[in-house]
Amino acid sequence: MRQTIIAGNWKMHNDRAAAKELVSGLQDVLAQVGDNREVILCPPYTDLETATTLISKLAHVSVYAQNMFYEEKGAFTGEIAPSMLRELGVKGSIIGHSERRGYFGETNLDTNKKIKTALGHKLRPILCVGENEDQRVNGVMKPWIQMQILEGLQGLSGEDVASIVIAYEPLWAIGTGRTATVEQAQEVCQYIRQVLADAYSKEIADKTPILYGGSVKAANAKDILQQADIDGVLVGGASLKVDEFSQIIKA
Ligand code: PGA
Repeated sequence: MRQTIIAGNWKMHNDRAAAKELVSGLQDVLAQVGDNREVILCPPYTDLETATTLISKLAHVSVYAQNMFYEEKGAFTGEIAPSMLRELGVKGSIIGHSERRGYFGETNLDTNKKIKTALGHKLRPILCVGENEDQRVNGVMKPWIQMQILEGLQGLSGEDVASIVIAYEPLWAIGTGRTATVEQAQEVCQYIRQVLADAYSKEIADKTPILYGGSVKAANAKDILQQADIDGVLVGGASLKVDEFSQIIKA
């Protein structure tokens, strides 16, 4: 019932020429994405227009930003407004990626404001949550993730929640080559669905897509995607390579 989502987060990689080369290299695979799937490309701001132009004729492919600000406009040096993204054909944005939280001090309150503003502009948020290694070892992983979700989604209606995407990305698995085992990934994604069911309803929880991210590659994507509560993957490093990302899309 839920769509499978394959999202590629390019992070701060690819100048314009490299962006063109990557999206052009993916064209054939992107043109074959089936009805129950969506592929999402998340380039840096400077590549958004290049990407939206190159995918404009593809039915199941969209371009999202990696971040956006929650204000509409104003004296916010260095920030990007949601309407500026919409104008370029961008359909959504990653919100609260662990690198935003870790390097730039983003809080759950920030993610909450960003999600509300994004929805107000018909941009689909991908809310990222996840624990660090200490939190996992010390048994506070679940309350931490629950707090990220409940504070991030505070004040949203059930209908709004079902329209967003949640990505579970354990910090210790991001960019480290240490993927969570499929059991670990499934356990937390199932827990996230339970948090949504308790806070909203089972129906809302069943409708909301939950992705796993953290060292996803062609070799492990298929197993991850077979888990009952994992509806897709958020891919960093492997989304920069035509071969790897093509295989993940086809997995
Ligand atoms: P990675 O990054 O696939 O390179 O681990 C994932 C992410 O940060 O979204």
